[in-house]
Amino acid sequence: MNIQSMKLIFLGPPGAGKGTISKMAAERLGVPQISTGDMFRTAVKEKTELGLRVQAILAAGGLVPDELTIAIIRERLSWPDVRQSYILDGFPRTIPQAEALAAFSSPDAAVDFEVRDDLILFRLTGRRVCRACGAIYHAVTKPPKVDSICDLCGGELYTRNDDREETVKARLRAYHEETEPLIGYYAGKGRLLTIDGSPDAETVYTTFISEIGRFLKK
Ligand code: AP5
Ligand code: MG
Repeated sequence: MNIQSMKLIFLGPPGAGKGTISKMAAERLGVPQISTGDMFRTAVKEKTELGLRVQAILAAGGLVPDELTIAIIRERLSWPDVRQSYILDGFPRTIPQAEALAAFSSPDAAVDFEVRDDLILFRLTGRRVCRACGAIYHAVTKPPKVDSICDLCGGELYTRNDDREETVKARLRAYHEETEPLIGYYAGKGRLLTIDGSPDAETVYTTFISEIGRFLKK
């Protein structure tokens, strides 16, 4: 696919495959992936001021306050690498975040990956992530070649501490209450692409690529 510019938002519940599909697009098309969740987890790991502020919120499965999240994305979108293209993986997650984004950038489309709640629990409780490079695995659907070791960089795989069943339920509640209204928000602007996120990742990626063209400037 030959793209001049591709500014996208990835929507969808926890475990919908936002990280998986955006990493495939980053590798195959060179589009920068910006994940607010990854940025917060790095801050927690490095015990920065931001990390100390958000640690308990992430552990409980709640949402980080809008003004903090918006400030981080506003700063990140000022970097030169995202002038033409980006995928925002997990931002915006509330209507105020979407309205703030509209004031400093114009996304081409919001892609909503639809997945049923029962599949989400299966996906998240089986997820393993590389501590070193962030590659995403699944104990059943995408196991590493060697147990607990990243195929790509040899790093150690771990289970995110918000992937426990109780926390997943809190994240799903936050999603239904705060984030789901964004589907109507972007549909109303004629910028919503809905993709079935339940087949295997390669099928989801192929569907995404075949459908996204009509939202992009020629
Ligand atoms: P974040 O890291 O964004 O978590 P999330 O939205 O809950 O999404 P996940 O990363 O859990 O799921 P995903 O859709 O990326 O799925 P993945 O590809 O990994 O946010 C974490 C926290 O940060 C939030 O709870 C909040 O506190 C805070 N935060 C972040 N952004 C914020 C914001 N804007 N405002 C406020 N707070 C914010 O896939 C999951 C598993 O399924 C993997 O094991 C994968 O291998 C497997 N899988 C994926 N796709 C497929 C497929 N097609 N077939 C089979 N298996 C698959
Ligand atoms: Mg993710």
